[in-house]
Amino acid sequence: MSSSKSYQRADHYSRKAQAQGFAARSVYKLDEIDARFRVVPRGGSSSVALDLGCFPGSWSRWLQQQGVRVVGVDLRAPEFAGEWLVASALEVTPEALVGAMGGKADLLVSDMAPATTGARFTDHCRQIELARRALELTDSCLKPGGSFVAKVFDGEDAPAYIREVQGRFREVRRFKPDATRERSVEFFVVGLNRR
Ligand SMILES: C[S@@+](CC[C@H](N)C(=O)[O-])C[C@H]1O[C@@H](n2cnc3c(N)ncnc32)[C@H](O)[C@@H]1O
Repeated sequence: MSSSKSYQRADHYSRKAQAQGFAARSVYKLDEIDARFRVVPRGGSSSVALDLGCFPGSWSRWLQQQGVRVVGVDLRAPEFAGEWLVASALEVTPEALVGAMGGKADLLVSDMAPATTGARFTDHCRQIELARRALELTDSCLKPGGSFVAKVFDGEDAPAYIREVQGRFREVRRFKPDATRERSVEFFVVGLNRR
C-alpha cells in the first residue's frame, strides 16, 4: 500500500475512534487481534484484564465494553471511571498488581511504548525493555491458560523476544493489524494458553 493510502487508512481509523468515543485509534488494533485470536476472556465480569500502558484508555474502555473488569497501569490515569494504578510498569511490584486485581489476570495486554527519539535502534531497545517487563509480569500476574498481547518495535532483539514468549505460552503469533500504520515498525506478539 502506498504511504498516501496508508495515511488515508490512518485517518479513517482516527475518525472512527472519535465517532465511537474512543480516546485513541489504537483501539482497532486490539479489536483486530481479538477477532483473529480470541484473546478476550469470555467469562464476563468475573474475568480480569491487566492493561499495561493503558493511557489514554481506549484498550481499557473497549475491554470494559466486552464485559471484562480492567486494571490499568500507566504513568498517567485515563480520564474516565476505572481502576487505574499510576506507576511505571518497570517499577510496580507483581504483588501490588495481584493485590489490585484481587488475584491473577485472565488476559495481560501491553501497548506500552517509550517516548520515541527517532533513533530506530534506541527506540527498539527501550520498547523491548517494556515488552520484556510485560512478559516477566505474566509469571506472577497471569493465570495458567491466560492470554498475552504485547506491542514490539521490530529490530534485532525481536526474534529473541518471540522465543522468550514461546517459552511461556503454548501458541505464539506475530501479527501486524491493519490499524497499524503501514510504515510503522510496530507489531504485536500474541501468546495464547500460558504454560
Ligand atoms: C500507545 S500508548 C497506549 C495507548 C492505549 N493502549 C490506548 O489504547 O489508549 C503507550 C503508553 O505507554 C505508556 N508507558 C510508557 N512507559 C511506561 C511505563 N514504564 N510504565 C507504564 N506505562 C508506560 C505511555 O505513558 C503511553 O500512555
